[in-house]
This record gives sequence, structure tokens and C-alpha cells, in this order.
Amino acid sequence: MAAPSDDSNISKTFENKFLQKDSYAEELRELMDSLPKEKGWITPDMYNYKGFWLGSIHLQGALRCQKHFQAQDYDIMLCSLQKTGTTWLKSLLFALITRKQYFPAAISQQQIHPLLTKNPHELIPGIEFYYAIENSPDFPMNNGRRILSTHLPGALLPKSVWESKCKLIYLCRNQKDTVVSFWHFMNKRRSSELGGAEAMPFPEAFDRYCRGEFQFGPFWDHMLGYWKESLENPSKVLFLKYEEIKEEPDVHLKRIAAFLDCPFSEEEKECGVVDGILRLCSFESLSNLEVNKTGKTIFRQTGNHAFFRKGKVGDWRNHMSDEMANKLDQIVDEKFKGTGQPERRVKEQATRG
Ligand code: A3P
Repeated sequence: MAAPSDDSNISKTFENKFLQKDSYAEELRELMDSLPKEKGWITPDMYNYKGFWLGSIHLQGALRCQKHFQAQDYDIMLCSLQKTGTTWLKSLLFALITRKQYFPAAISQQQIHPLLTKNPHELIPGIEFYYAIENSPDFPMNNGRRILSTHLPGALLPKSVWESKCKLIYLCRNQKDTVVSFWHFMNKRRSSELGGAEAMPFPEAFDRYCRGEFQFGPFWDHMLGYWKESLENPSKVLFLKYEEIKEEPDVHLKRIAAFLDCPFSEEEKECGVVDGILRLCSFESLSNLEVNKTGKTIFRQTGNHAFFRKGKVGDWRNHMSDEMANKLDQIVDEKFKGTGQPERRVKEQATRG
């Protein structure tokens, strides 16, 4: 099957299928019955599989990926937890890899760039979602590379990802902004996908997040798995932080290009290609496109607008008490002690508003 572009049928069947347990394959049902479970944020349950919390959709997708996905040396895999800036990095990667085909600096001359009419999640497929539907999805090639993404932890990725020369880029974000962003996103999904279900109060979401009980969590094991790989094998895994990209986007875009063996030439730099990509993929630019204001995600009823909220560093201050912030800081300190601290603290001057 080709990566689907018309979302209407998929989103309906996808959601319905995975919200009804009796429609799961028997093998999956047996496994789910044997695993520790907790109430899901969207789905009725989520399951602890090898130390990570997965909804039934992601569990099915993870198992099928492990069995059938074959990584190629030319693949690029963007790995992240939800709400860490995945949509932004997807857009940057797509624009970077296809820059010869779609020259970003020419956007002002009305050239039609795919990012102007498609949401980044449509251009860069999340593998576990596609494998949740079938055994052999056909992922698109872009300029000789497959650009893919996953929220799965490194320990649950198919073996071929680690055995091949495929490149991994991991994106993380400070936990306080991530949990706030996640809470907003999940409440939007609860409202649109669960027939207007009540919003989860922030204190409840915060406590669950701190216990690691959210899809693909806990965050510490997710981050540390990729962090250690990036230290041991820096040509295989590039570890990025949302706040650092925000601070110096051009530095990091050039770093990503070099890591992916497609560095910018001097001519490209002089012609404004780096700036063109950054402008095209900025929060202001993407969030104001019609496709991202009124379009829908491929797999869900929730609109694309849910992926663009504020795009700021430090918004946690508008939601979190000092006590909560201290608690999360302590968890981060304890979990990352002695590891070189993959999480970057938000600077104290981050302002309210
Ligand atoms: P906020 O909710 O804090 O605004 P993900 O893409 O992993 O789901 O993460 C979503 C978060 O990234 C949201 O954070 C969203 O606003 C922010 N975001 C989306 N596009 C962005 C962009 N182009 N630049 C910076 N941040 C962006």
C-alpha cells in the first residue's frame, strides 16, 4: 500500500478499529491480557510492554514493525516523544532533503512547495502508525532517502534500524514544557475523538506524566536510551534539543545537514537556502497555512491545528505551581544523575505570557 494521502477513510476505520478490543488479532489480545495495564489518556487502556507504556495501536504497530520493517542505509529516522517539536523537525528535514527539487528561497516566487499544502506528518510517516494498519506499507522516497519518524523507544525499534547505516535524529524538549503541551494536545484529542469527553485536569495529567504513565513513556528511559547511543555512536544518532534549535536554528540546521551527509554548499548559503528553509518551517509560517489551520491529520479526527499551539519556550510557567516545577526538576535530576544530563533546563529568564 502506498502511504495514504486521503485521510477521510483511514481516520474513521483506524480509530474505530483500535477503540474496540474485540477487533484485535487474537495474538495481540493474548499479549495485552498478559501485560500490566493502566487507563489510557485517549484509549481505554495502555499497556506496559518491556518497560514502556503503549496504547493498543502502538503496541500492534511496534510488534509489526519489529517483524517486518527493513531499515535501509539511506533511511533517516526522526525519533522523539510526543510534543517535543516533532512537527517542526519533520518540516525542517523534509525541506532540507528536498531542497534541490523544491528550492526554498524561491517560495516568494510562488513555487509550490509540498509543505505549503501538506502537513509535515503527511510528508513524513510515523512507522508504528502505518504498521498498525498493515504488514508492508510503502514509504515515499525523497531525493534518494526515506524520511521516517517514530515515537518508539530505541529498545523497541526493529533490529535492522540499529544494524543498518540508517541515521537517527533524536529530538527532546524540557519536560515542563513537554507535559504542558501534551496535556493541551490530549485534551483537544479527547474533545474531538471521544465525543467531547471531559478535559483531564492538569494536576492529574502532571502526576501521570511524572510517574511515566503516558504513551511511549516514561520519558527518562526513552531519552536515556537514545542519549547513550548518541554518546557511543555519534555518527549514528544525533541528539537534539528543542530549546537549542530555537536559540540557534541556522547552526542546528547546518549541523543536521552535515550529520545526514548533505551539507550546505557555500553557494547555497550565499543564495539564502538556509534562511529560506528556516522561514518556511517557522511556527508563524506553518501555523498560518490553510492546511494546518483547517486540515485533518491522517489518522485522526483532530485537526492539524492541534500541532501548532504556541511554539514557545517556558510556557510551563503559565500552568505549573512552583511545587510542581520543583517536583519535576527533582525527578529529572534523579533519573539523569551521572548521565551527562540530556535534559536542558529552561532558562530562568523565560517569561510568563
Ligand atoms: P506547544 O504546545 O508548547 O506550543 P509535536 O510536533 O512533537 O507534537 O510538538 C508540538 C509542539 O511543537 C507544540 O508546542 C507546537 O506549538 C510546537 N511547534 C509546532 N511547530 C513548530 C515550529 N514550526 N516551530 C516551533 N515550535 C513548533
